[in-house]
Amino acid sequence: MGQGVLSIPGTALGRVAEVTGTPVYVYNAQAIRSQHAALRSALAAVPHRIHYSVKANSSLAILDLLRREGMGADIVSGGELYRALRAGFRGSDIVFSGVGKRPDELAGAVAAGVGLINLESEGEFEALAGMVARRSGPVNVGVRVNPDVTTETHPYTQTGKSGMKFGVPLDQVIGLVRRIAAAGGMELRSLGMHIGSQVSQADPYRRGAAKLAELVNLVRAEGITTLTSVDVGGGLAIDYGRGQALDPAAFAEAVIPLARSTGLTLLLEPGRFLVGNAGVLLTRVLYHKRSGGREILVMDAGMNDLLRPSLYQAHHEVTVVNSRPISFGPSPHGVGARATGSVDIVGPNCETGDFLALDRALPRAEPGSLLAVLGAGAYGFGMSSNYNSRPRAAEVLMDGERFGVIRAREAPEDLLRGETVTPAWESL
Ligand code: LLP
Repeated sequence: MGQGVLSIPGTALGRVAEVTGTPVYVYNAQAIRSQHAALRSALAAVPHRIHYSVKANSSLAILDLLRREGMGADIVSGGELYRALRAGFRGSDIVFSGVGKRPDELAGAVAAGVGLINLESEGEFEALAGMVARRSGPVNVGVRVNPDVTTETHPYTQTGKSGMKFGVPLDQVIGLVRRIAAAGGMELRSLGMHIGSQVSQADPYRRGAAKLAELVNLVRAEGITTLTSVDVGGGLAIDYGRGQALDPAAFAEAVIPLARSTGLTLLLEPGRFLVGNAGVLLTRVLYHKRSGGREILVMDAGMNDLLRPSLYQAHHEVTVVNSRPISFGPSPHGVGARATGSVDIVGPNCETGDFLALDRALPRAEPGSLLAVLGAGAYGFGMSSNYNSRPRAAEVLMDGERFGVIRAREAPEDLLRGETVTPAWESL
């Protein structure tokens, strides 16, 4: 798919902003499909199945799009299970990961016939075992291994190192596998890992995959022959404008040997790779001020809409929306007029850490100008909040020549849902 369909003229984005108001997230359906096609073709040589990591962007219309693409869903909570089912995923096409699944969430997953429950601790195994011991049809489980590999990504998005809360430590895996094999009501189907997010190098995947391959051999040496898949997680990095993307071919080259040597189906749980650069956040300049020699643009979107800059000091390209096209492709860039100076692009919230971008060269922008924050399709809306009692933004899907609202902007009454001034008091 050429760059053409992945670019959207600024005028079209301007029209969306006029219709919906700002802030608004805009997603390009064709960009999502194109990322899926790239991943699928990189892995074509081996049997594989992609489960979209719902947390990256869990809006129903996005889930529906990915389901129609033929993907399964990777979930981490009862809420995500609810969403995935509502978006039409069959239970059997859902993988349940996550470090702290509550007993009621496990029970919900069993009831929904979830295809694979990835266990992350002995305690979780015991909770599930207690529930399914006397079931006739076994529940399919996997073990998420902590492969003890280092990734060069933000410390907050590393997950595969020993001592972290994620996964079962390498030296405990076989013990747990034995307990699973001996338990009634469950069948060991998979060993897996998820080593981190925005992982830009293939090598950690190669090292992790090698450890999984060794474990598969050890499991088989135990006489356990029920494995059908190996789950290499998600985490593939995208380009946020600084060239950090992990080439799907390099990723594939790192994990394909695992599928080949074990003869098992490769499972993947990517989120960001599929949707990250397919989304932008449109926001308008409210005010322009100068202070201490700095130029400051106060926007109508801030950390409550897009937390990543504040939480991870994450870099997002920001561009002024004019008539020129904005790319939703693998290497996003917005072509604006020539930059005139350096500005801080800040949010309206009462927090010093509330900014979208600091010290950026930006074409001239004034109150009313529309800006696009690129690479906002993953962990954007999903991590947004009502902080400062701001209603959450609207979301729009574009597909070719069409666009449609997929989530209405929250209204003030949404802010108060479930609240009461007078509690129904109960005695202690
Ligand atoms: N599988 C599991 C078990 C995960 O925990 C995650 C992400 C994924 C798959 C998908 O990772 P992805 O392919 O999207 O990198 N909020 C952070 C990212 C945290 C990711 C948490 N887990 C951010 O904004 O960068």
